[in-house]
Amino acid sequence: ETIGRLAKDDPAPLYLQLQRHLRDAIQSRHLHQDDAIPPERDLAEDFEVSRITVRKAIDGLVSEGLLTRRRGAGTFVASRVEKSFSKLSSFSEDMISRGRKPHSEWVSKSAGAVTPEESLSLGLSPGALVYRFHRVRFADSTTMALEYSTIPGYCLASPEAVTSSLYDALEKTGHRPVRALQRLRAVAFNAEQAERLGVKPGDPGLFIERRGFLQDGRAAEFTQSYYRGDAYDVVAELNDIS
Ligand code: GLP
Repeated sequence: ETIGRLAKDDPAPLYLQLQRHLRDAIQSRHLHQDDAIPPERDLAEDFEVSRITVRKAIDGLVSEGLLTRRRGAGTFVASRVEKSFSKLSSFSEDMISRGRKPHSEWVSKSAGAVTPEESLSLGLSPGALVYRFHRVRFADSTTMALEYSTIPGYCLASPEAVTSSLYDALEKTGHRPVRALQRLRAVAFNAEQAERLGVKPGDPGLFIERRGFLQDGRAAEFTQSYYRGDAYDVVAELNDIS
C-alpha cells in the first residue's frame, strides 16, 4: 500500500513536499503512533524521488518530533505523551509510565532570597531562602518542555540535592507535595524558548503552572512549564458528580 503521490505542479522542493505529505499522513492518523514507516528505498520508489530526498524529508520530521529513529530497528511515528490531569505525578514518572526515558538538561540551578512575586506564589515571608531550577526536559532524545521551578529552602538541603527528578529529591526529604493547584494556558513560543526546544518561534505550546503543597499546607513548589504543543496531550477522566 502506498501513502500517496506528490503533486506534479508543486513548486516547493521535493523533500519539503514529501515532508508535508508524510506530516499530513501522521496528523490525519493515516500513519499511527509507533507505526514503522516504510524503508527509505520503498518510499523513494513510491514517490519517484531519490533516497537523498527521502532522507532529508525524514530528517525534517525527526527534528519536528513527529518521527523517531530507533537504532537498528527503523523509523517510527513518535507517540504523543499523554498526561492524566488529576494525578500529582512528576515529569519523570509521566515519561516512564509511557515507556519513554526522561532526561533533563540544566540551564541553571541557584539559591537566593525569594522575590516579591515568588513570595506571593509560595506564601513565604520576605527574605526567605528559595532554590531555583531551570531545565529543558526530554523524553528519550526529544525535547518536551522547558521548566522553571522555585522550591522553598525548607524542602531541600541544597540545590545540589536535585540531580535528575525534583520529586525524587523532595520525596527523600519528606517534602514531596501531596496536593497541587494547576493551571493550563495556550502559548506561542518566543524566540528563546523555541531555540531551547528546537521548534519555531510562534509554534504552539501548553503552559502549565503548578503550585504544590505539603500535608501541613506549606508550599512545596511553584513550577512553570512550557510543553511542546505538538508532543503533549492532557487527558482527564471526568465523573458525573450530580
Ligand atoms: C511536572 C510538574 C512540575 C514538577 C515536575 C517534577 O513537570 N508539572 O510541577 O516540578 O513534574 O518532575 P521531576 O520529578 O521529573 O523533576
